[in-house]
Amino acid sequence: MPHNASLFVEDKIRQLREQLHHHNYRYHVLDDPDIPDGDYDRLMNELKQLEADHPWSITPDSPTQRVGGAPLKSFGQIRHEVPMLSLDNAFSSEDMADFNRRVNERLKDTSTVEYICEPKLDGIAVSLMYEQGVLITGATRGDGTTGEDITQNIRTIVSIPLKLQGAGWPERLEVRGEIYMPRQGFDQLNERAEKQGEKVFANPRNAAAGSLRQLDSSVTASRPLTMYCYGIGVYDGDNAPETHSDMLNRLGEWGLRINPEVEVVESVKGCEDYYRKLESRRETLGYDIDGIVFKVNPVKLQQQLGFVARAPRWAIARKFPAQEAMTVLKDVEFQVGRTGTITPVARLEPVSVGGVVVSNATLHNMDEIRRLNICVGDSVIVHRAGDVIPKIVKRAGNIARLNNAKAIAPPKVCPVCGSKVDKVTIKVGNAEKEGTALVCVGRLTCKAQREQAIIHFSSRKALDIEGLGSETVALMVSEGLLASVADIFALSYEEIVALEGFAELSARNLIAAIEKAKTTTLQRFIFGLGIPEVGEETARLLAETLGSIEKLAIARREVIQLIEGIGETGAGCIQDYFADNHNRQVLDKMMDKHQVQAVGPDKYSSDFVVKIAFDKLISNIPVYGVGLGIAKRIASKCRDFSELYALSSDQLKEVVRNQRAFDHLLKALPAQKDRLITLEAYLLEEGLHWRTRQNLTDAALTKVNKAKKGALKGKKFVITGKFEGVSRDGLKALVREHDGVIAGSVSKNTDFLLAGEKAGSKRQKAEALGIPVIGLDQFNEMVAAGQSSDRRGSQQETSFKNIDHEDED
Ligand code: IVH
Repeated sequence: MPHNASLFVEDKIRQLREQLHHHNYRYHVLDDPDIPDGDYDRLMNELKQLEADHPWSITPDSPTQRVGGAPLKSFGQIRHEVPMLSLDNAFSSEDMADFNRRVNERLKDTSTVEYICEPKLDGIAVSLMYEQGVLITGATRGDGTTGEDITQNIRTIVSIPLKLQGAGWPERLEVRGEIYMPRQGFDQLNERAEKQGEKVFANPRNAAAGSLRQLDSSVTASRPLTMYCYGIGVYDGDNAPETHSDMLNRLGEWGLRINPEVEVVESVKGCEDYYRKLESRRETLGYDIDGIVFKVNPVKLQQQLGFVARAPRWAIARKFPAQEAMTVLKDVEFQVGRTGTITPVARLEPVSVGGVVVSNATLHNMDEIRRLNICVGDSVIVHRAGDVIPKIVKRAGNIARLNNAKAIAPPKVCPVCGSKVDKVTIKVGNAEKEGTALVCVGRLTCKAQREQAIIHFSSRKALDIEGLGSETVALMVSEGLLASVADIFALSYEEIVALEGFAELSARNLIAAIEKAKTTTLQRFIFGLGIPEVGEETARLLAETLGSIEKLAIARREVIQLIEGIGETGAGCIQDYFADNHNRQVLDKMMDKHQVQAVGPDKYSSDFVVKIAFDKLISNIPVYGVGLGIAKRIASKCRDFSELYALSSDQLKEVVRNQRAFDHLLKALPAQKDRLITLEAYLLEEGLHWRTRQNLTDAALTKVNKAKKGALKGKKFVITGKFEGVSRDGLKALVREHDGVIAGSVSKNTDFLLAGEKAGSKRQKAEALGIPVIGLDQFNEMVAAGQSSDRRGSQQETSFKNIDHEDED
């Protein structure tokens, strides 16, 4: 019996290990997990438990054995059985042609040579030894002959298999490749370090090197390292691969990571094309590369070519031009952005960085200047990455500061309009880290802010007005033609054609582009307003949940905050924006006078209405210690804020059932009373109050709830005024449910005006046009009549989940 039991356990352990190896491979190598993380954790825990109960069964290749052992005192040494060589470099197409010529000459072969192209990763070269498919050691390159034994650390890298998969691997296999840190992981690591006041790494390569050099492998385990394999050393077995690409394919089949960018090309011309292609995509790869490695693909030819000194004759590294250069900081100017943020910009002695002449670089803010410890006159190192604005990375360490170097002082007033400058706290990067920014308080009285706001409004991702770029806007602002975004729509042909740089055709084109931009999507329009914290994504969320600019303009912070993805700060900025008189005027001018139409999505999220629930609002107040659980208990006891404020403290304590949360509530509720009661009034007014939504089914519309589809078919309704106990949205939803049509304004095509209390201009207009004005009772009767005239329709219950919002009038 015990014998059988232990057999069973061993089988189970083996099975769990295989499953975990498989899922590890799917997740870390293929980037394509096939089970949820929770299931993986469960399998891992099961294995850990079995191994803890049966410690004799633990093997070094078990997935539980990645982090283990006490910190080392120092690293041991490992001698490479096959030396780890380095590569010759090429810096130009000519160098490549020379390399190709040397290869051809040596091979005494006139046919073209097949090459394999591989990105040259900027990481740490390592060697992994697998015996019988199990990872035995891991070592750094060291001096090429002897490296450091970093086995413990290598084992923590989850994308490196502890055991090779599949079959056919040789008895001993030495895999070589580059360990690196993907940029995203690097950024997160540095953000974390900054938050905790620790040292940040200068670049992903240093971070990878530092992480591998840890004597305590649990530190390495916490670092986002991974590896691409690019070659082999020892290969003790039959059937050695005939080409380098074959060998990489095999390594891939055995569960090792191979760079998907690797490509085989026919000739040195193919190498050139590959180089250009990858150079242009360099910034999108997600990891740093410093060039391309080209290798003769057939192993037989590699052997014929052999080595010279410490590098193979069959491979070369073509390096990208340097992305950094040294130059002199000539001056620092302060620029004012759209939201008033004042940014220091470095004026540099022009210098070529990776083939592009750079004369300006961003300095972000005063914190950055302090961090870099730079003065005007200093020699600095500039870095350029892709299309990103170049930045100063540091002072040139080996050049002393000049006597006449000048400290950089922050501006006391706005350099453009002379307004006061405020210091505000800002979030830096994704981190919760805070920094200070200087902000001009002049807002739209500041020419720079006005100009930037208009440029943003007209830009490609906003209203996309072709021909109204930054230079034209700057000119128009200077000429006094544009003071706000609304003025764009008042521009005349005569005004434009008179401007420098414009001719008849270009002026006509711009007028046409402006006319076209008058009808735009709600998302573009909201984004274009340039509300602080409202980027494209937030604009989309707002458009999809609120559906119209009018609704957004009156939306309260507490309500906006209920939209998933918009936080407290964003919601506050939105409310502030629309509370501002000047902004309201500009909007009114655009919508009313110039008839700009920001068209909301056809069907916008009805979930949002469902989300406005009393418990959600309570949990959002916010009160320390009161989460959704306690909020739900409170909401089950009282139905709205008025009822909540009517509770005695004993009653409240009873529902809350948590002393600490109760204490906090007792402090917070009186202080928030005004705000919450006003919020409730707003929700009632807008038909967003949970109790009104209840009333809609309970009272006013019970008769029509069971009405059949088609009752109002094709009838065009305009709804105006206030209705007791019913929201306009609810009525609109009902009209649509019965296949009626809702229009925003009265015209001769309107069939009925459904008017409640305080129906104003719409009623007058309807009466003037002779359009029937009906009340709620008549409306209900109409729906009910439709019910008897169309008996084929199916039963349709009105449900609040189906209610969607439309523009309020
Ligand atoms: S092959 C004999 N392939 O570049 C061939 N090296 O100076 C030796 N490297 O130390 C290396 N990506 O760390 C090769 N795809 C790649 C590589 C690569 C990066 C590094 C490696 C080596 C250095 C060569």
